[in-house]
Amino acid sequence: MRKSLFINGEWVGAANVQDLYSPYSGEKIAEIPLATHQEVDAAVQAAYNARKQLKKMPAHERAQILENVSRLIEENREECARLIAVEAAKPIQTARGEVARSLMTYKLASEEARRLPNEMVNMDAVPGGENRTAYAVREPAGVVAAITPFNFPMNLVAHKLGPAIASGCPVVLKPASQTPLSAFFIAELFEKAGLPKGALNVITGKGSVVGEALVTDDRVKVITFTGSPEVGMSIRNKAGLKKVTLELGSNSAVIIDEGTDIEAIADRIATGAFTYQGQVCISVQRIFVHESCYKQLIKKMKEKAENMVLGDPLDEGTQISAMISPEEKDRVLSWINEAAEQGAKIVTGGEENNGMITPAVIENVAPSMKVSCEEVFGPVVTISPFKEWEEAIGLVNNSDFGLQAGVYTEKISHAFHASEELEVGGVMINDFPTFRVDHMPYGGMKKSGSGREGIKYAIEEMTEIKLVSFNNSSFK
Ligand code: SIN
Repeated sequence: MRKSLFINGEWVGAANVQDLYSPYSGEKIAEIPLATHQEVDAAVQAAYNARKQLKKMPAHERAQILENVSRLIEENREECARLIAVEAAKPIQTARGEVARSLMTYKLASEEARRLPNEMVNMDAVPGGENRTAYAVREPAGVVAAITPFNFPMNLVAHKLGPAIASGCPVVLKPASQTPLSAFFIAELFEKAGLPKGALNVITGKGSVVGEALVTDDRVKVITFTGSPEVGMSIRNKAGLKKVTLELGSNSAVIIDEGTDIEAIADRIATGAFTYQGQVCISVQRIFVHESCYKQLIKKMKEKAENMVLGDPLDEGTQISAMISPEEKDRVLSWINEAAEQGAKIVTGGEENNGMITPAVIENVAPSMKVSCEEVFGPVVTISPFKEWEEAIGLVNNSDFGLQAGVYTEKISHAFHASEELEVGGVMINDFPTFRVDHMPYGGMKKSGSGREGIKYAIEEMTEIKLVSFNNSSFK
C-alpha cells in the first residue's frame, strides 16, 4: 500500500517513495513517501497558518477532539495493535499494552486541555507591587516539530500530539522511518475527530532532509524529540532560540538490596530487561545485586531468559521477536561478543536464532564495556554483585546517562538515601526502572536529555507564560 503525506488536511502523493519492510518477515509492507524540501515547507506553512485558529479555539473544543481520538483508538484497538506488531515487530500482547496506554494518553491530554495552569500573581509581595492585579497565562508557543522514535510508534506519538493540541499548538510530525504506519493511522483518526486543517501534518522521509529542515525553520517554535543522544545534541546545537525537549537514551540500572525476595521479583526484572527485545529507553540493562543474593539471581535470570518464547510478533505466545533492523541485530550481537572477548561471561543467550537475538544474561562485566556504559537497546542484561550500599549507588551513578533507576530494598533508610543520591529523572522504589504511567513526569538527566514528558509537564514545555498586570488605580 502506497502511503501519502498528510499536509494541510489533505493526503498528498509524494514523487519519491521508499519500500517499508516487516522487521520480522522481511516482506514488503508499504511504500512510504520521502518528503522533499518543498513538501516540508508546505507542511510547516500549513501548521503556521493554523496557529491562530488553534490558539482561539476554546479549551473544551480542543479537549473534545482529544477525547474523540481516544475513543476512536478504543474502537480500533485491535487494528492499532496489529499495525504496531507488523511495522515494529512488537509482540502482539505488548502492542496491545501500548494501544491501551495511547488511548489513555489522549484522554489525559483531553483532561489537561481543560485546566491549563494559569495563575494569579501576588504583585504586592514586594514593595513597588502594591495596587496591582496580575495573572500569568499559558499561551501556545507556536508550531511544534515532533520527531518520534520507532519503539513506541503510537504512544510516543501521543506524548507529543496530545500535549501540543491540548496547549493549542499546531504540529508537524516526523515519525521514525521504520514505523510511520501507526502515525498515518493516528492522523486519520485526528481528521475524523474534527481537528482543523493544518493543525496536524505528518511527513516522512530522510532525517537529513525532513529533520534538518524542521529543526532550522524559524516558523517552528518548539522541538520535541525522542531518540539517540547524538541526534538530540545535534538538534540542540542547531535549534537556536526554539524550546527543545529531548528524551534520549539510557543504560538503566536496578539495585537489589540484601534481604530482597529474589523469587518474588525475578519475573518483573526479566520483563523489564527483555520486553520488546530490550528496545525501550528504560529497559533494565544493569543489575547491581547484593552479594548475598547474587548466585540466586543469576540462576533465576538464566531460567527466565531461557524460557522466553521467540517468534512471529503476531503469534499470541511470542515474547521476543526480531530487532527493528538487521543492522541493529548485528550491532547488539557484536557488543555481546566484544564483552566476551574482554572477559565477560555470557551466562546464557546472546546468539542469533532465525534472525532474532536470544535474551542474554551477562556477568563479570567491567563498567567500560559497551554492554554496560552504552545504551544496548537490545535483549541484554548485565548482573554485578556489590558489598556495601554506597558502593551500589556509586555504580549506578557511574554512567553518562540518567533516565530512571529501580531500587529493591526492605530498608526505608536505603530507599530515601537512593532517592536523594541517584542522578536520574525518576527513582522507582521496590520496582524496576521500566515503570512508567503516562501522566507522571518522565525525562532524564545527563546524556538522557532535558525537559519532561507526562502531559502536564509537556504542556509546560509547549507554552509560553504571559504576565498581565493591571494598574488598579488607573481605572475610573
Ligand atoms: C521510551 O522508550 O522512551 C519510552 C518508554 C515508555 O514509555 O514506557
